[in-house]
Amino acid sequence: MEEPIVDGGAIRKLWLGEARKYHEHLLRLDAESRRNRFGGAIADELIDAYSKTVMGVGTVVHGFLIDGIVRGVAELRPLGAAFPTEAEVAFSVEKPWQSHGVGSALLERTLLAARNRGFKLLHMACLAENRRMQQLARKFDAELTFDFGSVIGEVEAPHPTPLSVIREMMEDGHGFATAMLEVQSRLLRPA
Ligand SMILES: CC(C)(COP(=O)(O)OP(=O)(O)OC[C@H]1O[C@@H](n2cnc3c(N)ncnc32)[C@H](O)[C@@H]1OP(=O)(O)O)[C@@H](O)C(=O)NCCC(=O)NCCS
Repeated sequence: MEEPIVDGGAIRKLWLGEARKYHEHLLRLDAESRRNRFGGAIADELIDAYSKTVMGVGTVVHGFLIDGIVRGVAELRPLGAAFPTEAEVAFSVEKPWQSHGVGSALLERTLLAARNRGFKLLHMACLAENRRMQQLARKFDAELTFDFGSVIGEVEAPHPTPLSVIREMMEDGHGFATAMLEVQSRLLRPA
């Protein structure tokens, strides 16, 4: 299910075949947003290389799309091998769509996905001067620990509940049985 945030825009998961759309979005970020997204000024070539890694196994990518073009992304990437309980999150919204609630909506979806996957801790790296991202994280009660020039936001992801599974399923437009089976198989794995 897609829900409008900005007129004509909607948030949904991006799939493997849509990696190119994510890549093009990252290349369109203005210099300041690109620096904030990657913690420094990076060249197009590095974005090309980074984009090849974004749709890895277990990574959940939510996109904000208008007319089929990705204008915002939230990435949830499990940390560690086997059965990770921690993940890294990263956000990017193209300048004209910033400050319209897109980042908040992407974070909300990402927290829901994290909760349903049993992640206990989410790491978010952002520059100390990136007040907008810090403000956004605080809205969701993130605990922020200052570390040299950067801020690491650590977000407690609460346990999944039947309701949180249903919410994710509805947002994806999937069948409940499929969603429930997916979540159960994740939860039944040995810790
Ligand atoms: C950070 C980012 C993802 C936020 O997305 P967004 O769509 O602009 O966020 P929202 O519109 O939901 O606003 C988030 C909050 O920040 C606040 N905010 C907006 N501009 C701000 C500013 N200049 N300074 C401080 N807070 C600001 C908003 O008021 C809002 O809080 P509120 O809803 O309580 O008013 C987006 O700005 C972005 O892509 N920036 C570049 C990349 C980046 O910094 N990524 C984060 C590191 S991975």
